[in-house]
Amino acid sequence: DSKISSLRSWDERRTIAIPGDHDATVHFCLQHLLALYQQATKDHGSFYLVLSGGSTPKELYEILCRSPYKEQIDWRKVYLFWGDERSVPPSDPKSNYHMAMEAGFKKMPIPAHQIVRMHAEEKIEENALAYEKKIQEILKGQPFDLIILGCGDDGHTASLFPHTKALKAKNRLVVANQVPQLQTWRMTLTYECINQARNTLIYVLGASKKEMVAKVLQSPDQFELYPIQAIGTKEHQALWILDQDAAETLLK
Ligand code: 6PG
Repeated sequence: DSKISSLRSWDERRTIAIPGDHDATVHFCLQHLLALYQQATKDHGSFYLVLSGGSTPKELYEILCRSPYKEQIDWRKVYLFWGDERSVPPSDPKSNYHMAMEAGFKKMPIPAHQIVRMHAEEKIEENALAYEKKIQEILKGQPFDLIILGCGDDGHTASLFPHTKALKAKNRLVVANQVPQLQTWRMTLTYECINQARNTLIYVLGASKKEMVAKVLQSPDQFELYPIQAIGTKEHQALWILDQDAAETLLK
């Protein structure tokens, strides 16, 4: 099917890859991630990687932390950060940190100080500032090499939810965001932080997302309603990686 192409420019801010079925897409994403790891470690000796939470990337993390992928990474060069975190302890199954570590990162020889967890379970506003300082301390002005993001059913990404204050954050990398629609607080990277990254990757699998994907990519920009539309700039295009199920409506 000619429409199943690997890479095509969507607009000046966004590129789309539709590698094929579920497995083809997972492996396309892993190859892309490895290529960015190689480029980053060649350029500056480290790989500053920001992980997404939710369920979609779990399988990606599991495969990355298993042979034959895990041998292709020098884990001493890897720094793990999170794009957002729920206001729960690290042992809670809802924790994005917990999901990633259990998926396999806890078994990789990454130096402990290079796993930078968001402390969102308490004093979330104070800890958002602390996380911001941590990013600045470690990256020393470098941008993140890769930020992996998912797409929520409501068009949110990270914890940038529709009609929430974090969408308007200025001069901040990390904020605490009250999410009334979930009756909770979240910690999240801001648009400013995400759109400064060398590479952003929006990874969406499955038919359940096909309507939202089409709406987000085909509607005029309405960032308050579909926050994920604001990811990607002319300088740093966002790469959407969609499997054919998630891209079905878009390709109609
Ligand atoms: C979170 C994630 C969130 C996620 C989307 C998609 O904390 O839940 O960071 O932004 O990427 O909600 O979630 P699924 O992959 O589970 O559909």
